[in-house]
Amino acid sequence: MKRLPFTPLVLSALAVLFLAAAPALAQQDMTHVPTEAFKKLTRPPAAFAHDTHNEKAGLADCTACHHGEKDGKRDAASDTAGIPCSDCHAVAAKPGKTPLERAFHRQCMGCHLTQKKGPVTCGDCHKPAAK
Ligand code: HEC
Ligand code: HEC
Ligand code: HEC
Ligand code: HEC
Repeated sequence: MKRLPFTPLVLSALAVLFLAAAPALAQQDMTHVPTEAFKKLTRPPAAFAHDTHNEKAGLADCTACHHGEKDGKRDAASDTAGIPCSDCHAVAAKPGKTPLERAFHRQCMGCHLTQKKGPVTCGDCHKPAAK
């Protein structure tokens, strides 16, 4: 019998390499806001080409979106880039906490409204995937 070139050990080593490389690529390659936290989607995922968006919008400061937490409050100064919003904002509503959908809507639309730039209507963010 011929030996298979890919033993389970080789395969798992490849998987580790791939997983290690993925986070470094993810933010450049992002085209949409990740939606894994939502159990079921009722809208197409919101368009968001991370790096291109931030370049066009002139957002060099990561804390413009990636804030932290201190004593249960929003800590605007701490940089949490790379931590999913859902780590702190649960999908389900809890007293005194901004649930995930509202956290996104307030942050994204809030800035677009104050700057009078960027989409503010449902269909301009939740665009059906191009065919
Ligand atoms: C500035 C962009 C933006 C606009 C405008 C916007 N959304 Fe969203 N919305 C998001 C983001 C980001 C999320 C979280 C990621 C996702 O689900 O795509 C989200 C999530 C949602 C969700 C929860 C996930 C799901 O698919 O069920 C619903 C429902 C939703 N939006 C409805 C709306 C409706 C209705 C409007 C218009 C009144 C709207 N959104 C306008 C960006 C936007
Ligand atoms: C306009 C808002 C905004 C700005 C500014 C911003 N990000 Fe993000 N970033 C996001 C959103 C939204 C996500 C997805 C969060 C989630 O998964 O819940 C994200 C995700 C990431 C991820 C994870 C990628 C992945 O696929 O898991 C990294 C890393 C990241 N950002 C780094 C940065 C760095 C570094 C900066 C500053 C140079 C920055 N971000 C500025 C909005 C922003
Ligand atoms: C380390 C925890 C943490 C992370 C990560 C985090 N937040 Fe928050 N955020 C908080 C806390 C704490 C508050 C204040 C209590 C509340 O409203 O839930 C807050 C408040 C908010 C508010 C409402 C208050 C305001 O000043 O606008 C929005 C909107 C928001 N976050 C959006 C986001 C988005 C979008 C992301 C991901 C890009 C994110 N947050 C990531 C902890 C976090
Ligand atoms: C701090 C301000 C700010 C925040 C936060 C922000 N945006 Fe924007 N966004 C802008 C500006 C400014 C533009 C217009 C850029 C230009 O001149 O083309 C824009 C443009 C866009 C566009 C149009 C296409 C593009 O990429 O330029 C989309 C889609 C968009 N934003 C989605 C989002 C989503 C989704 C979020 C939340 C995860 C978000 N934005 C958060 C400032 C912001």
